[in-house]
Amino acid sequence: MAFFSDSDIASTNKAGLRSRNAQPMLTESRAPTPAGTPFDLGGTQAYETWRGWKFADYPKTAADLIVEVRDPLCLTVAEHKAIIEHCYKANMALYACLGGDIGSKETVARLGQQFGLRHLDNNLCADNDSITSVRVMPSGRQHEYIPYSDRPLRWHTDGYYNRPQQQIQAFIMHCVRDADSGGENALLDPEIVYLLVRDENPAYVRALMQPDAMTIPANVEQGIEIRGAESGPVFSVDTNTGALHMRYTARRRSILWKNDPVLRAAVCFLEDMLSGDCPYILRHCLKPGQGLICNNVLHTRAGFKDDTTTDHGRLLYRARYYDRIVGT
Ligand SMILES: [Fe+2]
Repeated sequence: MAFFSDSDIASTNKAGLRSRNAQPMLTESRAPTPAGTPFDLGGTQAYETWRGWKFADYPKTAADLIVEVRDPLCLTVAEHKAIIEHCYKANMALYACLGGDIGSKETVARLGQQFGLRHLDNNLCADNDSITSVRVMPSGRQHEYIPYSDRPLRWHTDGYYNRPQQQIQAFIMHCVRDADSGGENALLDPEIVYLLVRDENPAYVRALMQPDAMTIPANVEQGIEIRGAESGPVFSVDTNTGALHMRYTARRRSILWKNDPVLRAAVCFLEDMLSGDCPYILRHCLKPGQGLICNNVLHTRAGFKDDTTTDHGRLLYRARYYDRIVGT
């Protein structure tokens, strides 16, 4: 959710939708905790108002977030509104196509456009159209990376190794074919994580907002550096949209945390939260024609099994965007 004044939040309706006429309050500076907003660590009123709204009627299961859509190329007003409402509240929605060409990348691109998602991240393993086919790759560059295997993926937000100017604000993960078994995703809203961390200890939030909190070392393939080291905060507030952004990976290797005792304690708290029974973690196994559209929520993927005698294994299309979902 972009940050708004107290009165904006107070005027949200039961579904959590802000008045269409209310304008987001933009920051003028790059202060990590903008004054007067829910992310102002020095203030409590805006935070408490937002916190109360956020926890009230929060979705209890992934099924609460599913929106059936007749044709993903051309959503009805009601379908579009339902997806926006879920994303406004929980930063994510699941859609289930009842028709349309679910095996087409064009479907994914056109779906994203209906939510203002236009600027695709052309990451290392993306296809020529910047949308990535996520499937088991027995050889080649992708073979070196866990997403292109059947192994489990730890908690992360997408693009945590991206440059600061190219942070991933949103992504769509669209299922064309599911696995014979496994492949479930766990999902967690970064705003909920922020709230739980701040409730535990506001100093943890401050530590996680340090610009050098987390460093991902350079990516070197066969002696050639294909991406430099990237340092950045875990939590940051976008100065254009006022929205909270989270950059995180639970990987243990190839990551350097700043040597700071408070940060260390904060990271331990995060790890405990993510490995425990946090009631806000939602779980869903995408079926063909289903997808996740979200403001880069934290997610995992369970390992899976496929019939390796055919080339019809699990296939997801993943589109990563520099845009945030409009209206959320
Ligand atoms: Fe991911």
